[in-house]
Amino acid sequence: MPAQSLPDIHRIAISTSGGDAPGLNAVIRGFTKAAILKYRWEVVGLLNGLEGLVDTAKTIPLTLEAVRGLLPRGGTILGAASHGNPFQRSVVKDGQAVEEDLRPQMVKNFRYLGLDALVCIGGEGTMKIAADLGERGIPVVGVPKTIDNDLAGTELTFGFHTAVQTAMEALDRLQTTAASHHRVMILELMGRYAGWIALMAGIAGDADIILIPEIPFEMNEVVDAVLKRNRRGASFSIIVVAEGAREKAGDLHVMRCASEGTYANERLGGIGDWLAEKIHEQTGLECRSTTLGHIQRGGSPIAFDRILATKFGVKATGMIAKGRFNHLAVLEGGEIIARPFSEVVGREKNVDPEGQTVRYAERMGVNFGRTNREVRL
Ligand code: F6P
Repeated sequence: MPAQSLPDIHRIAISTSGGDAPGLNAVIRGFTKAAILKYRWEVVGLLNGLEGLVDTAKTIPLTLEAVRGLLPRGGTILGAASHGNPFQRSVVKDGQAVEEDLRPQMVKNFRYLGLDALVCIGGEGTMKIAADLGERGIPVVGVPKTIDNDLAGTELTFGFHTAVQTAMEALDRLQTTAASHHRVMILELMGRYAGWIALMAGIAGDADIILIPEIPFEMNEVVDAVLKRNRRGASFSIIVVAEGAREKAGDLHVMRCASEGTYANERLGGIGDWLAEKIHEQTGLECRSTTLGHIQRGGSPIAFDRILATKFGVKATGMIAKGRFNHLAVLEGGEIIARPFSEVVGREKNVDPEGQTVRYAERMGVNFGRTNREVRL
């Protein structure tokens, strides 16, 4: 078999798209350091998602000095963009508002900037965008990011475990105030349509009830679990609810519709307050709800995410050097490997309602808003 020729690489752009997650800067740093020190490549940062490919002024040079001290820093020094379609711009033509397709311009600017490859850090939506650019001839690789951990094809995304840690710390605090005031305390967590953050934080933070999208709950089960705890002498209960959880017979709790503003997805939220009302109505107990919100996304990544993000960044350089384009770096069995975009785009990774983590939690009495077949309470 003839040896495959390796790409001739000199200058690479890197971008961060979608909601931010702790560890984005660690990827930028890991990538930039390996790109410069091992391969002697030049690295350019695109600002605000892919805006740097639309407006070439929105780019910054990434040098060793520029990435110094970035490892613990939350957010992204490049700015993120999670609203709207990066491929479209509204323009007025002949007095009519029309959508302009920016992709040809982005490909042209990629060449104009003298780039040889592009790194897209983001979630499923970003990988879809990256795959599209790949089809248009841009050599592109991806790095998976989301606190929700719902990206298929990788065991973990960076940022997830930091969000879990933050949520667990919030639960630790709620435990003491709940016990003092004999209240039902509800913590609403992010995660979109997946219950990973709620499940893991709920177990680590000793929640009595965990409600996740993958297990639509029955209100009578939730109320029953709270009352049983009271009868057994526990004067308080802790409930973790994922923003995407819903009652078996109910709908998702949506704060704002896609048609309002430029939001690309429906905005979930509000189930915590709703639950507090319902439980109070049906038990007479005092209930309080806290929504942790973007606190889960902000701040410094924990050690695990710093390491994972760094390895993803370094792996991306190796993928480019070997010409492994149209792939993203993923975690599998403790190793970082390359996986084609096609195996990730259009899929979602959800909690298995019958999986070990859920079953073990049920076995020790955690209620998921369904009949607990593991224990008799
Ligand atoms: O996907 C990450 C995430 O934080 C979700 O958990 C949440 O539903 C959403 O983003 C919030 O988005 P925004 O920052 O646009 O409100």
